[in-house]
Amino acid sequence: MIRSIIIQPHSKCFLVARNYLTLAMRRQITLDASPPVHRGMMELDQTVFQKTVPVLAARVPASKTGLILKSDQMKKSLMNLPKVRSVVQDPADPNGARLLLLRVSDEADLPENARTYLAAESEGLITYDLKLNYDYWTADEILQAILPEELCDGSPTGFAITGHIAHMNLNDEYLPYKHIIGQVVLDKNVKIRTVVNKLDSIDHQFRFFKMELIAGVPEYIVEHHESDCRFTFDFTTVYWNSRLHTEHERLVEMFNPEDVVADVFAGVGPFAVPAAKKGCAVLANDLNPNSAKYLERNVKDNKVSELARVFCEDGRDFIRSAAKRAFDDPFLAYAGPKLTRSQEKELRKRQVAQGKPDASTSADSAQPTPAAHRKAISHFVMNLPDSAIQFLDAFRGILAENRPLSGIYSKMPMVHCHCFTRELEPENAEKDIKQRVEEKLGHPISEDVSYHLVRSVAPNKEMYCISFRLPPDVAYASE
Ligand SMILES: C[S@@+](CC[C@H](N)C(=O)[O-])C[C@H]1O[C@@H](n2cnc3c(N)ncnc32)[C@H](O)[C@@H]1O
Repeated sequence: MIRSIIIQPHSKCFLVARNYLTLAMRRQITLDASPPVHRGMMELDQTVFQKTVPVLAARVPASKTGLILKSDQMKKSLMNLPKVRSVVQDPADPNGARLLLLRVSDEADLPENARTYLAAESEGLITYDLKLNYDYWTADEILQAILPEELCDGSPTGFAITGHIAHMNLNDEYLPYKHIIGQVVLDKNVKIRTVVNKLDSIDHQFRFFKMELIAGVPEYIVEHHESDCRFTFDFTTVYWNSRLHTEHERLVEMFNPEDVVADVFAGVGPFAVPAAKKGCAVLANDLNPNSAKYLERNVKDNKVSELARVFCEDGRDFIRSAAKRAFDDPFLAYAGPKLTRSQEKELRKRQVAQGKPDASTSADSAQPTPAAHRKAISHFVMNLPDSAIQFLDAFRGILAENRPLSGIYSKMPMVHCHCFTRELEPENAEKDIKQRVEEKLGHPISEDVSYHLVRSVAPNKEMYCISFRLPPDVAYASE
């Protein structure tokens, strides 16, 4: 945000200044509303961020304010600093005239047409003291005024939000200032109560990152909302990545409500819970006991306990037993979209009006509709990009050991397997992924194969999701 065009000739923040200047000229800002500089401050003192900006103001009768504000002549001269109102009460005449704040402090800087117009329409020009304080400036602006000049070029204020936690990934040069950076981020974002900085280490098995508190309260159990679902989890012991929300939505979108979905590395449920909410029957698994615990809770909180079953076992064992589990203990058939209370009421009213019996009071209303149960898995989801491909050999023979299963799999399940590749060209990336998948499956894949670039995780590392139909020869392999 541009608050000033005053550039110190000796300033090292040349690039920042140049950008400011370009934008400033475009917006014709000539007021210095930048915060006072306090370089080297290590503990935040909000009180030193005070500034009085002398602003030219036109005194106008209250009745004429609207007209003058809308006039063509004033278009380019009215105050346009963010968060500052261009009309204020005249302190010298609280019940009468208004002051129109202008975007200059000197009458000579007003465009000719505005000056002439105000000479005719206003009751005169005065200097108004615009008072700014800590609340006025953005986190970036405050930090630009605090950090050493050599750190001004970049901005350390980027962060991701999970529930009430902001997590930052500060570069080494910012670490000496981590607490003050955290405090400013905390102050400037009302929904944030905790600010953490990611540490380099990550839990290699369960993929959650280690973190240190840099500001706010040490509360790590978050409530986060995604895909119309509520997720509660302990951010210090389970994996969660808000950047994956479009990937979560993309896959869930692919599922039909009648499908049975087996999520091998389910985490706290960002695929499993929305899929169940859609109507899918879900087997959701995670080896991390904390993930499984919160997954269970999220299933309950989102009222999908009838549709989602939680397991806490190694992905390989889960893949091997999923088909048998769905067969031995089938899910109820999909019963159509869940109606809201008001939709239910409306439906009942219509039925009664049409002379049909009121389903809610008829004798068998509590009975589920007799229909085929859901026994066959339609999708396997495998989001453990570092090593999911290594688990693919577990699919060999998943239908072979249990002969009755073969009868219900008229269509083989789809497998959606996330992975990383160092190949940046899509064609090479797809070739690389396909080769590794086929090697591990011990069989070529050819049916319904597609690749989706999920995101770039590093300059030379991409995350993909390969989807393919499990080859029958793999599912029925006898070894
Ligand atoms: C990258 S996270 C994905 C979680 C979730 N699906 C999501 O999209 O946020 C991978 C998950 O796999 C779990 N995990 C790691 N190794 C596992 C294994 N051998 N078997 C089952 N789950 C495992 C981790 O605990 C973690 O929750």
